[in-house]
Amino acid sequence: MLSLIVYLLQLGISLALVARDSNNLQENFLVKNLPGLTKNIPTNEVPLMFSGQLELYSENKTSYYFWKFVDQNKVEKAKGKTFFWLNGGPGCSSMDGALMEAGPFRIDKHGEVTYNEGSWHKAGDVVFVDQPAGTGFSFSDVYDVNLPGVVQHFLRFLDKYFEVFPEDANNDIYLTGESYAGQYIPFIARGILDRNKSNPEKINLKGLLIGNGWISPNEQSLSYLPYSHKAGILDIDNPQWSNILKQHDKCQNIVNQIIGGTLDKNVDANDIVSKECEKVLTMILSATINRSAPANQQCVNIYDYTLRDSYPSCGMNWPPDLSYVTPFLNNEDVLGQLNVNQHKNWKECSGGVGGHLKNRGIEPAVNLLPSILEEIPVLLFHGNRDIICNYIGAENFIKNLEWNGGRGFGEDSDSGPTDAINWVYEDEVVGYVKSGRNLTFVNVFDASHMVPFDKPNVSRSIIDLIIGEYEEDVSDDGKSQLITYPLGSKKILNPDPTVEEEPEISGTPSEVNSTGSSTESTLPEISSTTSRITRLIQLLVICILIWGIYVLYISYKSRPSSIIKTRPTSGKKKNVQWADQLRVFQDDIIDSDPSASFLSKAYNKITGKTGETNGVYASAPTNDIEMGNFEADPSNFEIHSEEDEEEEAAAAAETETETETGEVRKEQAKKDEQDKQDNLI
Ligand SMILES: *[C@@H]1O[C@H](CO)[C@@H](O)[C@H](O)[C@H]1NC(C)=O
Repeated sequence: MLSLIVYLLQLGISLALVARDSNNLQENFLVKNLPGLTKNIPTNEVPLMFSGQLELYSENKTSYYFWKFVDQNKVEKAKGKTFFWLNGGPGCSSMDGALMEAGPFRIDKHGEVTYNEGSWHKAGDVVFVDQPAGTGFSFSDVYDVNLPGVVQHFLRFLDKYFEVFPEDANNDIYLTGESYAGQYIPFIARGILDRNKSNPEKINLKGLLIGNGWISPNEQSLSYLPYSHKAGILDIDNPQWSNILKQHDKCQNIVNQIIGGTLDKNVDANDIVSKECEKVLTMILSATINRSAPANQQCVNIYDYTLRDSYPSCGMNWPPDLSYVTPFLNNEDVLGQLNVNQHKNWKECSGGVGGHLKNRGIEPAVNLLPSILEEIPVLLFHGNRDIICNYIGAENFIKNLEWNGGRGFGEDSDSGPTDAINWVYEDEVVGYVKSGRNLTFVNVFDASHMVPFDKPNVSRSIIDLIIGEYEEDVSDDGKSQLITYPLGSKKILNPDPTVEEEPEISGTPSEVNSTGSSTESTLPEISSTTSRITRLIQLLVICILIWGIYVLYISYKSRPSSIIKTRPTSGKKKNVQWADQLRVFQDDIIDSDPSASFLSKAYNKITGKTGETNGVYASAPTNDIEMGNFEADPSNFEIHSEEDEEEEAAAAAETETETETGEVRKEQAKKDEQDKQDNLI
């Protein structure tokens, strides 16, 4: 009996020490305040936040910046989920995503945070990551030159991240992002799935969500003309029509050569496609200039064809929030709060990153999709007003894609194509969905390149489509439709998308509600059993702590006082410190929701949730294979000073053809237009 008590006592003390260690790491990243936080954000909606620059490699001074948002009143489905969000470019900061799209804040004209009702962090923790190095607040002595390098470094970031947040290591992980992240995300996903096969510590990658992704450059480049015609931007009476058609033909020929494998071996496929095919878009923009409009309205906005911008910016002054976000992220007080210790001026996109990421000889991300779809679901959503990564290009490459034993969504099959199904959210058709064999395509109506910017609530509900929190229904005119509901407002009866033919589920929403009680009654039972176990374990921990304090008190009489002073901090005092941090945000939650307390942390340690992984995610092998290769071939990793980078950016701005997507063009024209800087929209 005595030995058991001693054992439990030791366990309690060591668990408390572990808890203190990981909390100390997290404390370095805690965000305690921001301009407008307590004033503009409803008290119960203030998220728990961690932000800062996480060192990946000390030898070449590489750190990745991240900003993590955790809801303090999680709905059931938000628990145990982490979304990593990446913006594109390449070289565009994920602070676009955090402060203009999926994050909980927008920045107002006073430089204060305001609340975004449609924030994704209500559906799971969201971590916005600036990557690759050189993007936003992430830095390094070296740039990545291709996507395999990007993958290598993101995996390293994940390892470091789980060292700081071991409690996330067993979460369901989703990779999400936008635009050029349509290249990053499939490559990183492939990297994770491959590593899971040999590494006993699995990353539970559950799915990919890509918004207006640049996934198949060859095929998507061919969509500028058809899209512009369909959207009514360019008609066949335009005097430039035949010239544009000729350029489109040139683009088509190159794409045919690449696909047919007949392209001259000395020609860089990526280079030639972006050079010849982007010209199509440039020509469309110049052919549709409206010279009679005010100067800031003369060009079509390439991210939302219903908007106008000055020429040649054509969308680069958009979105308007950028003019508030940029000074916010250059405010020294804010940077202090965000634990950004090393920084240059924040700019939305870095030309140097895109200038180096040449991807010579690297196949496009679309080629990785079939193997990924064998293992996890992928959802591609497209705001239907975007030109640069438009939905027609996406539908076209999906048509040609073969995965999981079929081609496209069955367009070629005898049984006919999978029909697009209307997606209904809050009694409104907000888009349509095509789905099959783990791939889901969503066309989001009335949305731009940045879907969460225009449609925050709708964009968050896209998550419901990939996790299966939707109902299938038949509309009044006899067509089937998918329905999702605002967060937490409705119990979904059928959370498993694979069980589709249950007759009980196909009723109207009100019928579903009336039959819902049987399911509901089983759920609380499970959770009450769990909470009973939780309470038992918590009680156990309290006993251990009391024993610990008692034994420490006993030893107080026989030991030097210096030891006494340090030991109790690992127990009860820790609780107070942790709670103090939270109290900065809100007092009521501490009182009403003990789940954020030290005891629940200790519970996780006992169940092994974090104890297990602690140490497993310890530092990577010192001989990093990929980095070793780079060192052996210095031409891969070029060392750059800040001035060099500025030069690179300027050089990149001169050669529009070097770039892959409009987000970099955005950077270039911004430089051209720096003096004008008129706010438009
Ligand atoms: C679809 O993904 C699941 C994992 O969500 C996987 O188990 C399954 O094999 C995949 N389906 C197909 C047809 O490959």
